[in-house]
Amino acid sequence: MIELKNIAKTYNRGTVSEMTLFEDFNLTVKTGQFVSVVGSNGSGKTSMLNIICGSIPIDSGEVLLDGVNINRLPEYRRYKNVGRVYQNTALGSCPDMTILENMSLAENKGKPFGLTFGVNRKKANYYKELLAGLGLGLEDKLNAKMGLLSGGQRQAVSLIMATMTPIDFLILDEHTAALDPHTADVIMELTDKVVREKNLTSIMVTHNLRYAVEYGDRIIMMDKGKTILDRADGEKRTTSVNSLLDIFNKISIECGN
Ligand SMILES: Nc1ncnc2c1ncn2[C@@H]1O[C@H](COP(=O)(O)OP(=O)(O)OP(=O)(O)O)[C@@H](O)[C@H]1O
Ligand SMILES: [Mg+2]
Repeated sequence: MIELKNIAKTYNRGTVSEMTLFEDFNLTVKTGQFVSVVGSNGSGKTSMLNIICGSIPIDSGEVLLDGVNINRLPEYRRYKNVGRVYQNTALGSCPDMTILENMSLAENKGKPFGLTFGVNRKKANYYKELLAGLGLGLEDKLNAKMGLLSGGQRQAVSLIMATMTPIDFLILDEHTAALDPHTADVIMELTDKVVREKNLTSIMVTHNLRYAVEYGDRIIMMDKGKTILDRADGEKRTTSVNSLLDIFNKISIECGN
């Protein structure tokens, strides 16, 4: 379970660019639930994910994973239990290292000896198996530099890397946004498969309303640091892309856009 309780966050406090994003933000994601988060640019989606992962400090409130307050747990230690995939396909892996080296690093994430490459043949075979599951032919490219892969290939490997250790939580921030429509669909299918197989408690930020509607158990819409729509299970299943678009348009008109 992921819990955000009474979160307050103001950026650039005491400066001319001071901006209060969250005043009293609350969110509970049940164990195994897959939540899609939509909302306009600047509504606070990435900030919320950063707060869960400890990438930015909060002013007050509590972040809990499975009931344990992790406010004081540094970001790198949170990733022991949390997988994260970013919009930028270059983040989350090292371009100058091979797929094999990247996967080896990912497998050692959260361990103190994370920078030693204990790559042996058995490991290589295991990585090949994981890559073969993608159906992209990457199992034959273990020694290729990560930076030479296409964005979609890199994102597929990043997803495997983020979920190959025994994590409970998965954080996705527009992870299909930089991909062409077909590759985005492939990565989305793969995401759903991994989430379900590993029963991951997941939060996926997306601007793709179709994905938000078709995948996951719950849709949240954010606006100006607040949750303005929250539909789960049956209520979610009857939510259409058009009804979400209507709400977007309404907000946009209210904002004078
Ligand atoms: N590090 C930062 N310093 C100052 N302001 C920030 C910082 N990060 C985010 N903000 C501001 O907080 C607000 C929310 O930003 P955030 O990135 O969380 O939005 P978002 O919903 O992820 O938007 P998008 O859909 O464009 O990714 C924006 O007004 C943004 O300018
Ligand atoms: Mg964002």
